[in-house]
Amino acid sequence: MIIGVPKEIKNNENRVALTPAGAQELVKRGHTVYIQHTAGEGSGFPDELYVSAGAQILPSIEDTYGAAEMIIKVKEPIESEYKLIKEGQLLFTYFHFASHEPLTRAMVESKATCLAYETVERPDRSLPLLIPMSEVAGRMAIQKGANYLEKPLGGKGILLGGVPGTLPAKVIILGGGIVGTHAAAMAAGLGADVIIMDVNLQRMRYLNEIMPANVKTMMSNEYNIRKMITNADLIVGAVLIPGAKAPHLITRDMLPTMQNGAVLVDVAVDQGGCIETCKPTTHQDPTYVIDGVVHYCVANMPGAVPYTSTLALTNATLPYAILLAEKGWKQAALDLPELKTGLNIINGEIVYEAVAQAFDLPFVPVEKYLQD
Ligand SMILES: NC(=O)c1ccc[n+]([C@@H]2O[C@H](COP(=O)([O-])OP(=O)(O)OC[C@H]3O[C@@H](n4cnc5c(N)ncnc54)[C@H](O)[C@@H]3O)[C@@H](O)[C@H]2O)c1
Repeated sequence: MIIGVPKEIKNNENRVALTPAGAQELVKRGHTVYIQHTAGEGSGFPDELYVSAGAQILPSIEDTYGAAEMIIKVKEPIESEYKLIKEGQLLFTYFHFASHEPLTRAMVESKATCLAYETVERPDRSLPLLIPMSEVAGRMAIQKGANYLEKPLGGKGILLGGVPGTLPAKVIILGGGIVGTHAAAMAAGLGADVIIMDVNLQRMRYLNEIMPANVKTMMSNEYNIRKMITNADLIVGAVLIPGAKAPHLITRDMLPTMQNGAVLVDVAVDQGGCIETCKPTTHQDPTYVIDGVVHYCVANMPGAVPYTSTLALTNATLPYAILLAEKGWKQAALDLPELKTGLNIINGEIVYEAVAQAFDLPFVPVEKYLQD
């Protein structure tokens, strides 16, 4: 198969979808790998490393999309890329369709096939291509939160762990999945008082067993959230309902009840956010303040640590990319249930129900394409 890896052009996105080691694995199996010039540079992989791994360098993004049967990317295509996508082309990347109507409509019109990292779901319901980035974002959420709690950056001026004779900061984490667990571990390690709020009792039992004593769990419901946010210093939004928009757990009317200088880090912003007042921001201009509460809502947090993120992501995506290259998307999806759930759009038809529902667009069951 001919595989193309374009350079990411979203604001401050320095990750790349394939490392030289990954390129070598594909080339070794007889595939052609085209890397757009300087695509790996932001992650510390210059063109020469790809060339010595057997890949070929193409000068422009147009050449890369034009040559490839399968495009492997990190972030969803942005508007300037829509016209480069070809009918029948396979795109393997993050899409987050349910929170982006123009992207969904553009991909439908392109008649491409879109396999979304975020809906690749194992039979045990785990999301193997979200996990590595969630691990990174969860850990980063606390680094960022701690930073913005500093007074010169608009925060209350509290040190997460405090010092002897002072109380530590109170951290609330909404959603105790991968992001929430890694955020909680980091915050607890720094000495904060941490509460994880989730709706899954089974998960909270597990967290209660594995977390240190300064991490408590609490049922997530409006009553408890209203009560707990009034004295929280840092709140991390880490809720996910797979393939759907995140529910607004903190609503606009709750902000005046919060402390001046409290910080909200809504990691779930890429699925619409679980805090009503969160709108996506960038690494260049990451925060804004409403009612004295600092909002940090960067939709591509792992993009700021591209070295760690690229290695973590490609460790997880490469086995699937190899399978797609070897068998094509149809046979790969028949062989591996998680690739079937990853299919969101086939030849311009939406085959992932939550995406079709989000914008009231026609839905076609994926089985239509996976028969015979
Ligand atoms: N901004 C970024 O750069 C970035 C990076 C990685 C992940 N994310 C996003 O972070 C979010 C969380 O990802 P994850 O991997 O931790 O997901 P996950 O599925 O591991 O965890 C989600 C958790 O939310 C819980 N939940 C569902 N409804 C809830 C509710 N009403 N109240 C409290 N908890 C509830 C679930 O029970 C689950 O434990 C996703 O939206 C993901 O896309 C964003």
